[in-house]
Amino acid sequence: MLANKRILLVISGGIAAFKALDIIRLLLKEGAGVQVIMTRAATEFVAPLTIATLTGKPVLTELFDLTRESEIGHIELSRAADLVVVAPATANLIAKMANGIADDLPSTMLLATDKPVLVAPAMNVRMWYHPATQRNLATLHQDGLHFVGPAVGMMACNEEGPGRLSEPEEIVSEIRSLLDDTPKPLAGKHVLITAGPTHEPIDPVRYIANRSSGKQGYALAVAARAAGARVTIVSGPVAIDPPKGVEIIRVETARQMHAAVEAHLPADVAIMAAAVADWHVANEGAEKIKKQADGSFPALQFEENPDIARFVGTHPDKRPKLVVGFAAETQNLEENATRKLAKKGVDWIIANDVSPQTGIMGGDHNMIKIIRADSIEAWQDMSKGEVATRLITRIGEALDEIIEI
Ligand code: C5P
Repeated sequence: MLANKRILLVISGGIAAFKALDIIRLLLKEGAGVQVIMTRAATEFVAPLTIATLTGKPVLTELFDLTRESEIGHIELSRAADLVVVAPATANLIAKMANGIADDLPSTMLLATDKPVLVAPAMNVRMWYHPATQRNLATLHQDGLHFVGPAVGMMACNEEGPGRLSEPEEIVSEIRSLLDDTPKPLAGKHVLITAGPTHEPIDPVRYIANRSSGKQGYALAVAARAAGARVTIVSGPVAIDPPKGVEIIRVETARQMHAAVEAHLPADVAIMAAAVADWHVANEGAEKIKKQADGSFPALQFEENPDIARFVGTHPDKRPKLVVGFAAETQNLEENATRKLAKKGVDWIIANDVSPQTGIMGGDHNMIKIIRADSIEAWQDMSKGEVATRLITRIGEALDEIIEI
């Protein structure tokens, strides 16, 4: 992923400086070239020799290193880089950056660079919350710097809260996405996705649900984000981790999902991948429903849930340019799916056969048909990730056509 990318890594002097070794290792493993600059304080935590051995390049620390000045100079340093990463970034270095102070090699280079800068802060929780730090961070955000973390948790100083350096894997993943120069067909677009099941309560401890895992919806969110979109997922209860870099709104019932979807319109594209329960229990018990002594069963009464796809597909003024629905069926797939196109006012229906023997419900693969008013296209069996990437490519192409018209 990072082959031939050149990273200029600034290590400043916090206890987390040792984690920079793991960041360097991960970057080298992916084929990046790494040049390290350290603040003087950082060299108290990690030996420059260790880092120079790892990167195969001398570590730079001194502004007035005459040989360096004549050979490349501090102004030249970042010219050779694709990205500047500050990890860990102490409160002190952040303060200098926010105020344009250049009194050592790292701060001077940071003032002289016109390359993108990724900052991974690490400091004591009270230093993090200090109004001065928060003010400096706001300034740097405004200046267009990128941030990762800090993580929340236990710190070296035995205090808990935000201030831990993000994990090296997370920092490297952020570096990857900043340096990703693949085309971004959905850049500037907002994609709203519903995913997962809904839970419809019977009483405070029981609910009615379905077997949706949320995997296809979440995979679509990952693919849309990779295509450059701003992504909002409105998700029912699922057991999978939320994708990074997307906004996630967690809901339980169809009525909550409906409200959350309404609140997050407008969008350019809506993908309704949730398996929304068709009904909710109208006579929901306020207390746990008890077994009856005479052996009789509670009579549940149902009421229809709002049809969220139809709400979006027929919205008078906030209808997205492209609305994609799903149809999970166990019989008469094409017929049922085609009927839904018109009924819900959606542009495409992604239909799949979820009979138990297909293993699609809850599984990692999917076999879909794209149903449009004038065509049906059947795709081969593939992973849910692959389905997502291809569908998002199609969505990008369709948006281009809509805009051209
Ligand atoms: O009507 P049916 O549930 O089969 O339709 C499936 C499609 O409609 C899916 O895209 C699903 O997310 C959406 N849907 C919805 N709200 C409902 C029922 C279904 O958004 N109440």
